[in-house]
Amino acid sequence: MIEVEALKKYFSTGILRKRHIKAVNGVSFQIEQGETLGLVGESGCGKTTIGKSLLRLIEPTGGKIIFDGIDLVHLKKKELRRIRPRMQMIFQDPDASLNPRMKIEDSIAEPLKLRGGLNKVEIKEKVSELIETVGLNPEHVNRYPYQLSGGQNQRVALARVLAVNPDFIIADEPTSSLDVSVQAQILNLMQDLKRKFDLTLLFISHDLEVVRHMSDRIAVMYRGKIVEIGIVNEIFDDAKHPYTNTLISPASLEDQLIYEDIKDAGCVFYPRCPFAAEICCKKEPEMVEIGRGHWVLCDRVT
Ligand SMILES: Nc1ncnc2c1ncn2[C@@H]1O[C@H](COP(=O)(O)OP(=O)(O)OP(=O)(O)O)[C@@H](O)[C@H]1O
Ligand SMILES: [Mg+2]
Repeated sequence: MIEVEALKKYFSTGILRKRHIKAVNGVSFQIEQGETLGLVGESGCGKTTIGKSLLRLIEPTGGKIIFDGIDLVHLKKKELRRIRPRMQMIFQDPDASLNPRMKIEDSIAEPLKLRGGLNKVEIKEKVSELIETVGLNPEHVNRYPYQLSGGQNQRVALARVLAVNPDFIIADEPTSSLDVSVQAQILNLMQDLKRKFDLTLLFISHDLEVVRHMSDRIAVMYRGKIVEIGIVNEIFDDAKHPYTNTLISPASLEDQLIYEDIKDAGCVFYPRCPFAAEICCKKEPEMVEIGRGHWVLCDRVT
């Protein structure tokens, strides 16, 4: 369904825009039709930047993005607009993605109107159907976002996304702003919707347990790079990258959270790695396949 190769996104900052933040620095992965890939890593490692780049909400600096056989990076704006409904993104804060001055009914009807092809009655029917699909009550439709809870608003955001019949959804920390009990409800709802509509999912979270619950495969990200990728069980039972291990058992995280400026030459994890050898600060490691579909970005792994 989606194939990403050597994706890069650099942001220029500073007064002269001469400092480059390598938010995403050569990332490759694929997601099969109907599969959920979890993307996990600490704050600032580049997860959201990957999500936004895939939809070209921001322009990638380099690399390839192939969606259902279509090269997205070189697509013209007009062609991109035609593809867009098939790829949707859900964000962390549902309040921010909903217009506060729009009633829930109008919010869900908006993408249907934009797409065209339905009359007023049909739109109303479709909105009712979507309301039910995401587990809201009919009485919610006349309310405004501030009159609903965070969990209910995230359901509205899901209804809006489903309104355009997407194939691929990027969920960027969709439950991080919700409390734990509501989080579980929304995650279960997403699992149900995924099955019902045969969706392909990129599920982004900094929470490894949440990602475990949702995903078929997991990609672990650190400072702009995927350092390990594999099926869920492999990642949990047989993690090879030292960074993945610090995520799985936070006890080993210790006080290593100080970032040193790393040189372009070495491994991104070198300054924090307990197993670092001399070679690690000199040479950038390459992905090695250590099991079927299990890849690790580490020269020291055996
Ligand atoms: N528009 C921008 N301009 C400059 N730098 C940016 C921009 N957007 C993101 N960055 C930087 O890129 C890096 C990656 O950011 P990103 O939002 O992708 O991280 P994230 O993994 O989603 O983090 P979080 O878990 O906190 O959401 C960060 O260092 C961030 O400061
Ligand atoms: Mg983010």
